[in-house]
Amino acid sequence: YSRADDDYDYLFKVVLVGDSGVGKSNLLSRFTRNEFSLESKSTIGVEFATRSIRFLIVLFFDDENSIQDSDFSSFPACSVIGVKGYRAITSAYYRGAVGALLVYDVTRRVTFENVQRWLKELRDHTDSSIVIMLIGNKADLRHLFAVTTDDAKAFAESENTFFMETSALESTNVEHAFTEVLTQIH
Ligand code: GTP
Repeated sequence: YSRADDDYDYLFKVVLVGDSGVGKSNLLSRFTRNEFSLESKSTIGVEFATRSIRFLIVLFFDDENSIQDSDFSSFPACSVIGVKGYRAITSAYYRGAVGALLVYDVTRRVTFENVQRWLKELRDHTDSSIVIMLIGNKADLRHLFAVTTDDAKAFAESENTFFMETSALESTNVEHAFTEVLTQIH
């Protein structure tokens, strides 16, 4: 990876939001490094545990074509710089975000119920054109589903967001979810 840090054509800020433990860290590590950890610890102290956020800054190198025409297949390996971290919630944190992955855990209903609050927070702090993808993660735990796909889909439709079920563990739909957000941004 030899390009200078500021030698890029597009810079996207994408935030990952959702309750603690829904899988934000693992979705990000799966997408950027193809890694998954069963034992990942909560990234932030308990008092902030339900308010944790990750963000991803995507520097996209493309000399002539628009992002829509570009091949995303080599994207995670060579063109994505994941800047992972957490912050107390501030406007600065959200500022400039053009995409969001709003994650809940399909096995924990409360994380889905809290999606409404996350949506409000996103909408309060970001531009109305932000692309939001609702993500039901841990879809590998089929027998433990506490939120039906239909319910989530209907909710996403009513809120005008995209929707996908993913598994960071099995690597299902993870790349698809990120690339769909990035494609829609453009
Ligand atoms: P905070 O740092 O507390 O905000 O959590 P987080 O949203 O970053 O969740 P994290 O990625 O740390 O995952 C929490 C737990 O869920 C970990 O034990 C992961 O191994 C597990 N996990 C994450 N994604 C999946 C998944 O797709 N399937 C299964 N079965 N477990 C998952």
